[in-house]
Amino acid sequence: MRTLVIGGGGTIGRRLVPALRTRGHDVVVAGRTTGDVHVDLADHPTVEAMYRQVGPVDAVVAIAAHGALDDFPTLTTEALYDNTRAKLFGQIDLVLTGQHHCADGASFTLTSGIFADQAWPHVTGGAVISGALHGFALSAALELPRGMRINVVSPTMVGDSVDAFAEHFPGMRPVPMDDLVHHYLDCVEGPHTGRIVRAYG
Ligand SMILES: NC(=O)c1ccc[n+]([C@@H]2O[C@H](COP(=O)([O-])OP(=O)(O)OC[C@H]3O[C@@H](n4cnc5c(N)ncnc54)[C@H](OP(=O)(O)O)[C@@H]3O)[C@@H](O)[C@H]2O)c1
Repeated sequence: MRTLVIGGGGTIGRRLVPALRTRGHDVVVAGRTTGDVHVDLADHPTVEAMYRQVGPVDAVVAIAAHGALDDFPTLTTEALYDNTRAKLFGQIDLVLTGQHHCADGASFTLTSGIFADQAWPHVTGGAVISGALHGFALSAALELPRGMRINVVSPTMVGDSVDAFAEHFPGMRPVPMDDLVHHYLDCVEGPHTGRIVRAYG
C-alpha cells in the first residue's frame, strides 16, 4: 500500500511512519521543509503539486499544522480565519483535491483534537477547527467517489508532547503513543468510513 503522510516528520509522525513501514507500507512523507515532498497545507497550489508529484496513493494521513492559542476578548474573525487556514481548510483541501488524484478505494485519515468536545481556555480556534473537521468528515464519507474512505483521529494531548504542552493544559491526561498509533493504523487499514476516533486517554 502506498501511503502519503503529511507531517510525518513531526511528533506523532515519528511514531506512526516507522509503524506503517514495519507493516509493509511504502510511505511518502510530506512537510513544508521536511520529508520527501514539500507542501504547505495553507497554500492550495502546493497541495495540487504534491499530489501530481507523488502520483496515486492508497492512503493519505494528515498529522500536520496546529491551531494557535488565542485570547477570546481580543479575538477577531480575521484572526480566527488565519488560525484555521492550514489545519482546517488545509486538511479539507487534501480531501477535495485528493479525491481526483488518489487510487480507487483510497482512505483519508485526518487529525482534529479534543477541543471539539472539551472546552479549555485559549483554544477557541482549536475548537472551531476540530468541530468543523468532524462535520466535514461525516459529509465527505457520503460524497467521496470510487469507494474512498475518510476518518478523523481526535487526540487529546499525546504522550510525547507532555513536556511541551502540559503547562498550557494542566490536568489533561495524555493518550499513550502506542494507543494513538493503533488508532491511525486502524483508520488506514480497516474498512471503516465516517468515524471520529476520540483518542482521549
Ligand atoms: N501533539 C499533541 O499533543 C496533539 C494533540 C492533539 C492534536 N494534535 C494534532 O496532531 C497533528 C500533529 O501534531 P504533532 O504534535 O505531531 O505536530 P508537530 O510535532 O508540530 O509536527 C507537525 C508536522 O507537520 C508539518 N507541518 C506543519 N505545518 C504544516 C503545513 N502548514 N503544511 C504542511 N506540513 C506542515 C511539520 O513539518 P514542517 O515543519 O517541515 O512543515 C511537521 O512534520 C496537529 O494537527 C496537531 O494539532 C496534536
